Amino acid sequence: MEVNFTKNFLWGAATSAYQYEGGNFNTDWAQWEKENILDECGWACNHYETFRHDFDLAKKLNLNSLRISIEWARICPEREKINFGEIKHYKCVIKELRKRGLEPIVTLHHFTNPVWFSRSGGWLNKKNIDKFVEYALLMVRELNADVTWWIVFNEPMVFLYNGFIEGIWPPGIKSLKSANKALDNVLAAYKIIYNEIKNIYRKIHKNSMVSVAKHMVIFKPCERGVKWLNAVSAGLRDKLFNYYFLDKIIEDNCLDYVAINYYRQQFITFKGFLGAECEGGKHHMVRKNAMGWYVYPHGLYEIISEIKRYNLPIMITENGTAEEDQQYYIETLLEHMRALAMAVSEGADVRGYMYWSLLDNFEWDKGFSKRFGLIKVNYNDMKRTIRESGKIYSSICADNKICL
Ligand code: BGC
Repeated sequence: MEVNFTKNFLWGAATSAYQYEGGNFNTDWAQWEKENILDECGWACNHYETFRHDFDLAKKLNLNSLRISIEWARICPEREKINFGEIKHYKCVIKELRKRGLEPIVTLHHFTNPVWFSRSGGWLNKKNIDKFVEYALLMVRELNADVTWWIVFNEPMVFLYNGFIEGIWPPGIKSLKSANKALDNVLAAYKIIYNEIKNIYRKIHKNSMVSVAKHMVIFKPCERGVKWLNAVSAGLRDKLFNYYFLDKIIEDNCLDYVAINYYRQQFITFKGFLGAECEGGKHHMVRKNAMGWYVYPHGLYEIISEIKRYNLPIMITENGTAEEDQQYYIETLLEHMRALAMAVSEGADVRGYMYWSLLDNFEWDKGFSKRFGLIKVNYNDMKRTIRESGKIYSSICADNKICL
């Protein structure tokens, strides 16, 4: 069976400022890398300089959209300072996307915060909410002529979990109480920004699509131990990590489309409040990618089918893999494409799919060794080479259809 996508379907790739641009030293992440002796992001893949060339490559791959993010610390290097030169830079970035027929999907916060923000209590300080709102709305006012699709936060539950419960990302806190406080502030900021974007666009008689990129995981009970207890933990994780944030903003009518980042399944065993991750048993027939994640393409279909209940448009804002073996990039891409096509063939209103990622880039605490790109980057000379998986994705984008 052949599944045809709508003529306006957005075929794209996702990127983020910190992981791509380079030179973002004024952020909490750059500090964190130094303090924890991690790989330093430094000049990343030098995209701040080479964005035009990289957009040419995206065009060459037949993409018609690209997800980018804005580095808050560039726009607001200090608490009361705005760098207008950097606003000009991002305006130019958006124009260059448009020039190539690439629909911009713009993220306002992709994990990183300016140093002044984290020094003044970061997401734990209620007074800081206004500063993020100010920055976000400034960018919305500057870019609204050329941008329809907004993502206010990338994966809030991920940065809250890693930063405030596990303590393995900045600010390195391990406290449920703090995580909860930060979550309240992030939710509050999101809702204010959502409503203000709607006001801004209403005034200019333009439609806007506003969302949050929600990380989704297929949680399954571990085979060892007491199965029903494992199932309780897996179910709790599903409720909390997959749906809590979404339900909170939907109940206040603050979501225009459901944006999903999907990578993997996790096996959960009953332990403590949130359960713990365990190894997938032999019956699960599972494969781990270079990140040590259990690849589960059918999960993309399952999640899309599940979120159809919200009756909102859907966009896959990240999906991809990092592999040692070239063959797995292709196999995994094709299997996820089939899962997407299956969901679309059953009537899911999916508006776009953004592969993570356009280029190899800086993978947070894992550094540069994990490569997610459709395009390989040689970090010595910054040369870009299209992977076989990139070529295959490119032909899918051009065909605008997938055979099941
Ligand atoms: C994040 C990206 C990250 C990717 C792969 C997503 O959770 O949004 O920044 O690089 O996963 O780990």
